[in-house]
Amino acid sequence: MKVLIVYYSMYGHTYHMAEAVAEGAKEVDGAEVEMRRVPETLPEGVLRKMRALEAQNAFAHIPICGVDELASADAIIFGTPTRFGNMCGQMRQFLDATGPLWMKGALVGKVGSVFTSSNTQHGGQESTILSFHITLLHQGMIVVGLPHSFQGQMRTDEITGGSPYGASTIAGAKGERMPSENELAAARFQGKHVATIASKLTR
Ligand SMILES: Cc1cc2nc3c(=O)[nH]c(=O)nc-3n(C[C@H](O)[C@H](O)[C@H](O)COP(=O)(O)O)c2cc1C
Repeated sequence: MKVLIVYYSMYGHTYHMAEAVAEGAKEVDGAEVEMRRVPETLPEGVLRKMRALEAQNAFAHIPICGVDELASADAIIFGTPTRFGNMCGQMRQFLDATGPLWMKGALVGKVGSVFTSSNTQHGGQESTILSFHITLLHQGMIVVGLPHSFQGQMRTDEITGGSPYGASTIAGAKGERMPSENELAAARFQGKHVATIASKLTR
C-alpha cells in the first residue's frame, strides 16, 4: 500500500508538516510512504527577493514529483501553503497537468487528503483545503480530512491550526512561527488516518 505525500513549501512550514504526515503514515503496517515536492515555477531571482532560497535548501533532497507517479499511489496527501485563501500556484500548475490521468480515470477510488499553512490564524486555511478538495473530487478521489478523534483540534488554551478538513499550521505574520507540537500531532494523525483507510481499501 503506497502513500504519496506531495507538497510545495516556500519557507519550510508545509515541509515540516509533510514530514509529520509521513511519520504518521509510516505507523501503519504495510505502508510504503514517499515524499515528493511539486516543481518550482518562480524564477530564482524572484525566490531570492522573497528570501525563500535558504529555506528551500533544507528540503532540496526531496525528489520532484512526476505527474504519472500519482497513478501508482493508493493514497495521496497534498500539502500547500495558502495563497489568498487558495492553494499555491505551483500546486495548481502541477494539478493542471493531471488532465491525462483524469482522462484515464487513473486516480478514481484513491484516497486524497490535504493539509496547509498560512501566516494568519484566519487567513484562509479552511478555504484552501476545501477548495483543493474540489480538484480531488473531479479526479474521483475519496476525500479524507482530520476527524474529531484528533482531540487536539478542540484546544483553546493555545493558538493552533487543525480543523475537520485537515491539519494546518499558523506561520506568523513574518513566517517566524514553526509548526507547534499540537499542529505536528494533527499532521501525524492525518497521515496515519489516511494510511489506515487506504490499507482497508486495498485489502
Ligand atoms: C502571494 C502570497 C499570498 C499569501 N496569501 C496568504 C493568505 O491569504 N493568508 C495567509 O494567512 N497567508 C498568506 N500568505 C502567507 C503564506 O501562506 C505563508 O508564507 C506560508 O503558509 C508559509 O508556508 P511555507 O513555509 O510552507 O511556504 C501568502 C503568501 C504569499 C507569498
